[in-house]
Amino acid sequence: MTTSGSADLVIVANRLPVDRVTDADGGPGWRRSPGGLVSALEPVMRANDGAWLGWPGGTETDLEPFVEDGLQLVPIGLTAEEVEEHYEGFSNGTLWPLYHDVVAKPEFHREWWDSYVAVNRRFAERAAEVASEGATVWVQDYQMQLVPQMLRELRPDLRIGFYLHIPFPPAELFQQLPWRRQLLEGLLGADLVGFQLPGAAQNFVRLVRQRVGHKTHRDMVYLPDGRTVKAAAFPISIDVDSFAELASSPAVEARAAEIREALGNPSKVFLGIDRLDYTKGIYARLRAYSELVRDGHLDVDDAVFVQVATPSRERVEQYRILRDDIDRLVGRINGDLGRIGRPAISYLHSSYPREEMAALYRAADVMVVTPFRDGMNLVAKEYVACRLDESGALVLSEFAGAAEELKQAWLVNPYDINGMKQALLEAHRAPEKELTRRMRAMRKCVAEHDVTQWASDFLEELAATRPEHGKVVRP
Ligand code: G6P
Repeated sequence: MTTSGSADLVIVANRLPVDRVTDADGGPGWRRSPGGLVSALEPVMRANDGAWLGWPGGTETDLEPFVEDGLQLVPIGLTAEEVEEHYEGFSNGTLWPLYHDVVAKPEFHREWWDSYVAVNRRFAERAAEVASEGATVWVQDYQMQLVPQMLRELRPDLRIGFYLHIPFPPAELFQQLPWRRQLLEGLLGADLVGFQLPGAAQNFVRLVRQRVGHKTHRDMVYLPDGRTVKAAAFPISIDVDSFAELASSPAVEARAAEIREALGNPSKVFLGIDRLDYTKGIYARLRAYSELVRDGHLDVDDAVFVQVATPSRERVEQYRILRDDIDRLVGRINGDLGRIGRPAISYLHSSYPREEMAALYRAADVMVVTPFRDGMNLVAKEYVACRLDESGALVLSEFAGAAEELKQAWLVNPYDINGMKQALLEAHRAPEKELTRRMRAMRKCVAEHDVTQWASDFLEELAATRPEHGKVVRP
């Protein structure tokens, strides 16, 4: 066995939980990224000598491990070519569209695959160095699917978990991948493979049976060497309390009022907040809304749609095309339907801190979340968590993982423009009592499943695998 490091819990993710910033003295520094994953894992990392391995973004390759705010961070550099082939290429030009119902056409390039293998190997090797004897390693998401098996070969003493944050496609789509078997075998290096939804876990088990030929029973895979792998659903969530606290702060309340004022105090504010991604259904949603304005169901003096699109993966061609398409659509809609000082759509291509997001959630009467396919969609849950007074409506795609929990939303098929128009109008016109009834039920659901619970459910289940394995990480 390789000599081991000192971390009893190792998180392996494509990204580090910090972003590069410039310090007050002009030098390079780090700032904690806003994601819920890191806040969920922070306590368990502190309690278990945790380390987090990830790419810091960019192409710096000579970064040393460092401690940031008490967290052990191990940066793994990517070369410009690896950013292009592993990150933009195989991860986001092949796997991302394939796993999201081929909403865009996945590209299959052998060089991209080679780079994905090489980068996964580097992450696995580094994890093998920092993990202590018998440690728990938790590998995150689609960029890292080969790490479990590579790591198991290097360090059979480890307990290995894998969690996929995005959907896992049905066999009919996954089958297209020239490297389908390697990916399945990569994942089977884990003791526990977690998914957002039970259907995804079932897709995985079925594929393992068909393509790899292992015996399976329900959620268990039986490997020829006697090892078992469990596949199960762990729907992810948000840090509910911190959103609620933020939303209740006087500063956020004041900012929400300021936003409505700046919009001209319309009686209804519709809101969409998404990464600018073709899976999110932004184009179809804005079209649906604009038709309601065109047909006189909504009036620009009285209603506005605020669409925030966070810049994302801007060097990938499909994302550039999408950006241009949305720019053009918004321009056309506002040109045709807006009046002076009253656009139909207030479009913001920018990312905002959590405080501003909370203020937007508070300011919005109708939250519109209509992805064509989404692993979970945390924006929907954030909106619900911020509606402290139980007001507000959620229009939610059936094809977002969140729809399995937020059943009191106005559920829509994002491919059905007329259906979406209908739901937008119903949500817009719903009486207060109806809104409260629905929001109260959704708030209860979100409050009962927060991200800390998600992390401890996964880690507990992982600890229960391979009982002969002595060391346990305490959630
Ligand atoms: C999704 C993925 C994450 C990813 C995030 C941002 O939520 O599941 O793994 O980190 O998008 O995308 P980016 O490409 O900027 O990391």
